[in-house]
Amino acid sequence: MQIDMKHTVTILDTDEQYVCDDEESLLHAMVRIGRKGIPSGCHGGGCGVCKIHVTDGSCRTIVMSREHISEEEERQGIVLACRAFPTSDVGLKVLGKMRKTVCKERKYGLV
Ligand code: FES
Repeated sequence: MQIDMKHTVTILDTDEQYVCDDEESLLHAMVRIGRKGIPSGCHGGGCGVCKIHVTDGSCRTIVMSREHISEEEERQGIVLACRAFPTSDVGLKVLGKMRKTVCKERKYGLV
């Protein structure tokens, strides 16, 4: 029997934290915290709205479109949250379209 490992994920832009197990994508668990501003895109690596920068900790990824994540970005820890699964506690920054909505909601106290 395999036991899922749970990790704490911190959205560094807003200081919010949530729990994500190693078989759940960072985006899927983020959506579970249920606040406005988390874009629920394709969840399949195709639309690119869930771009994040993993600055602390580590994650494994599955195939990501080069249209959205270049090899250089991937080397820097920039990934699609719907294609990334934590292997330790993680600190991340939101980028692109997600950054606009997540940070705007926070700025105006809507969370
Ligand atoms: S939700 Fe579309 S690429 Fe992640």
